[in-house]
Amino acid sequence: MLETLKVEKIARSFKAGAAENRVLKNISFSLKAGQVLVITGKNGSGKTTLLKILAGLLLPDSGRILIKGLDAVKKQKEIKPFLGFMGSEERALYWKLTGRQNLEFFAALYNIDRKTTADRIGKLALRLELKEFLDKPVEDCSLGMKQRISIARCLLSHPELVLFDEPLKGLDKKTREIFLEILGVLKKRKNCVIIATHNPEDFRSLKHRKLELSK
Ligand SMILES: Nc1ncnc2c1ncn2[C@@H]1O[C@H](COP(=O)(O)OP(=O)(O)O)[C@@H](O)[C@H]1O
Ligand SMILES: [Mg+2]
Repeated sequence: MLETLKVEKIARSFKAGAAENRVLKNISFSLKAGQVLVITGKNGSGKTTLLKILAGLLLPDSGRILIKGLDAVKKQKEIKPFLGFMGSEERALYWKLTGRQNLEFFAALYNIDRKTTADRIGKLALRLELKEFLDKPVEDCSLGMKQRISIARCLLSHPELVLFDEPLKGLDKKTREIFLEILGVLKKRKNCVIIATHNPEDFRSLKHRKLELSK
């Protein structure tokens, strides 16, 4: 079976004054449908950098990423529908718009038709218990609510490969439970999930593979 994701010898450095900060040194791994990978490592070990590279937000210095057999750097447009990314910053939403308007906007970017969008928003609202605050401006929502809307945003396009950067950071207990439940559903649906976290213990209930980055 073709891997959903194949990462071959990814390297990335940043300039740090005159010196070179070599953050990722020849990272290789692959993931098949239904697998969960937890990327761990201390602060500054490169977890976010690696996820951003996988999401196409940052270029690697060398190496290759294949998503469903397509080169992720050269074929960004083609792989976009397969990919979901939730960054660790909570600014991924427009604060003046409501949650629903945000979701409709992002669905339009993915060329999802109106009927499918309404249907998916309805299902995500149920699963994430969003209903009560979906029609409030995001700026009036609590952090937990914003995070649930961000999760919905990330899953709206039904991505086969989903990347979450420190997803449990700051989550209230209920949102945390919902999120862990969703991970189980994604796995069952044979999606691939990658989670970057400094605390892998949080995911012990979920069968997963591990990649530890060192500084
Ligand atoms: N845009 C950038 N410019 C310069 N250095 C960066 C940049 N992004 C990350 N770094 C550096 O790369 C290292 C890894 O950062 P990061 O990927 O955020 O680690 P983690 O997510 O594991 O905490 C850190 O030393 C950080 O300072
Ligand atoms: Mg990080």
